[in-house]
Amino acid sequence: MTDKEDHWVAKDYINNAAFVPKLTSVLVDDFLRPQPTDTILDIGCGDGALTSRIPCNKIYGVDSSASLLEVARTNHGLNVMLLDGRDLNAKKVVSEFNNGIFFDKVMSNAALHWVLNTRDRENEAEAKLNAGASSSETQLLGDTIRQNFFNQVFASLKSGVGAVFAAEMGGLGNVAEIHTAFLATLARYGMTPAEAQRVGASPWFFPHEDTIRNLLEIAGFVVEKIERVYRSTPLPHGNKGLLEWIKLFGFSFVDAFEKFQERKNVPAAERVSSERFLQEVCDLLTTICYDPQDSKQAYAGYVRLRWRAIKP
Ligand SMILES: C[S@@+](CC[C@H](N)C(=O)[O-])C[C@H]1O[C@@H](n2cnc3c(N)ncnc32)[C@H](O)[C@@H]1O
Repeated sequence: MTDKEDHWVAKDYINNAAFVPKLTSVLVDDFLRPQPTDTILDIGCGDGALTSRIPCNKIYGVDSSASLLEVARTNHGLNVMLLDGRDLNAKKVVSEFNNGIFFDKVMSNAALHWVLNTRDRENEAEAKLNAGASSSETQLLGDTIRQNFFNQVFASLKSGVGAVFAAEMGGLGNVAEIHTAFLATLARYGMTPAEAQRVGASPWFFPHEDTIRNLLEIAGFVVEKIERVYRSTPLPHGNKGLLEWIKLFGFSFVDAFEKFQERKNVPAAERVSSERFLQEVCDLLTTICYDPQDSKQAYAGYVRLRWRAIKP
């Protein structure tokens, strides 16, 4: 279960990010390679648009957004569970979904860079420590949470049959221009990049492939292939697409900015609105994300990190 505020609005996701589940032929055909007999778990399944298209015997999804899961159930009839991926427990998902039978494959698309960001948990742990909790109560941090996630994926797969974990996520350098514009706009109002990092303004974890290879191998996987590739991605809705992207995915920077203004005691009348903040991020990017000859089509510099790993 997750008791975090749900920032995902299904309608906005479907209107502005329908390209996310569509641009998946490489992940599905070359890395996942689903078979008609497969039982699959999709981590961060969202609205289920991709999950429901995977040709297999049975497929289940977990996600931390109640709003997106509702769409996965009602529009696609999927069997899904509300779960923060960082709390993945192999025994629990296997028994609740599949009568205790382990999965043939685990997949994930465009979700693990959210799941593997642990800054909020680190800040919660630090607050508990400051309030007098013992360090044993706050041990589950950063790398440990991430390793535990990979260990649990490994444990949820069948043994001895070449079960597969195939996933695609943002890798090092993903949407670097947009990421930088968020940080630059925060800095313009006085929040340094170091402070932005400390408070967890960025919700993402965009690693190098070696970091993921290491996590996979320590969990026990044999990495069959792993790659990190640049994919310039056209955004929908012409010259409105960039702002829509920034609004859809930028909620964590907006939260950080609002709290920063509160901490600084900026008088209410002088506070910069979240709309203005988001527009400023967008304005910084207009000469970067458009072809100089075409002001109607925005592109985001996606970097995709994908792998196919086998449980021996
Ligand atoms: C860009 S969407 C991708 C959804 C879907 N896989 C697709 O291809 O369309 C990212 C998804 O990650 C989910 N997510 C973010 N943080 C998560 C977490 N900690 N645990 C589980 N899901 C999470 C979001 O709710 C959202 O559904």
